[in-house]
Amino acid sequence: MLRINKLTKRFGDKTAVEAATLDIDKPCMLGIIGRSGAGKSTLLRMINRLGDASEGSISFEGREITTLKGKDKRAWQSECAMIFQQFNLVPRMDVVSNVLHGTLNRRSTLATMFNLYPMADIHKAIEILDRLGIAEHAPKRAEALSGGQQQRVAIARALMQDPKIILADEPIASLDPMNAQTVMEALRRIHEEDGRTVIANLHTLDTARRYCDRVVGMRDGRIVFDGLPEQLTTGVAREIYGAGADFSEAATSTEIETLDKTQAVRTAEAYV
Ligand SMILES: Nc1ncnc2c1ncn2[C@@H]1O[C@H](COP(=O)(O)OP(=O)(O)OP(=O)(O)O)[C@@H](O)[C@H]1O
Ligand SMILES: [Mg+2]
Repeated sequence: MLRINKLTKRFGDKTAVEAATLDIDKPCMLGIIGRSGAGKSTLLRMINRLGDASEGSISFEGREITTLKGKDKRAWQSECAMIFQQFNLVPRMDVVSNVLHGTLNRRSTLATMFNLYPMADIHKAIEILDRLGIAEHAPKRAEALSGGQQQRVAIARALMQDPKIILADEPIASLDPMNAQTVMEALRRIHEEDGRTVIANLHTLDTARRYCDRVVGMRDGRIVFDGLPEQLTTGVAREIYGAGADFSEAATSTEIETLDKTQAVRTAEAYV
């Protein structure tokens, strides 16, 4: 189905992703974990063609993706919808219109300019919102919703494209535990009920273990683990998140997350 072969991305002399190889042969829910700067977002962006690979290839159902251009590239971007940590909704626009934006790729400029949507699309948008448990919020402005509700609107917008793959870059990183659970459950259901593949970058081991069928661990741009959630032992976690952390059996995901944040602060400081 999706084959990623020796995919590499360089930014100047920095190698963000190095020879990543990944084969998905049937729809699954895959979690990518790793500390800040490991290359998780860069990998997802290359799959969606938001960023071009420096080397390597991606193929989907036998079709080469890395060389797609223009219309074909946009069609691919519809097939693998992307969801972000910050939802990327239009805050002042109502929820339904935000969801209908998911059809932009296949609408004419004129229809877009005048905000004209076919009735069938409006019905479909409401149906998807209903499925995600937020139909009652359809007429509200997106900014009036909670974070978890907004992320579900973003998922609804992605579903409007009827994608085969959903790429989620830290979909729950800005959410409290309750909202995070709702969003992860929604993604899980979309995988199970629709047979869509979900690939999600996640910060904590716990989330990956709980919702994913398969977990990929990245460290310094390389894939250092690819296996089942139950194979994520303390030793494996140490390999993914780096030495120096206390990964005794008692270590919790909170500690791992804290470690990650410390790293993030260091990374941020390096830019100042
Ligand atoms: N546009 C860019 N220009 C230069 N360097 C970049 C760019 N994008 C990412 N990088 C670098 O590539 C590396 C991987 O970044 P990436 O954003 O993929 O990491 P990540 O695993 O998603 O981290 P986080 O958990 O913080 O989101 C980092 O060292 C980052 O600084
Ligand atoms: Mg990232």
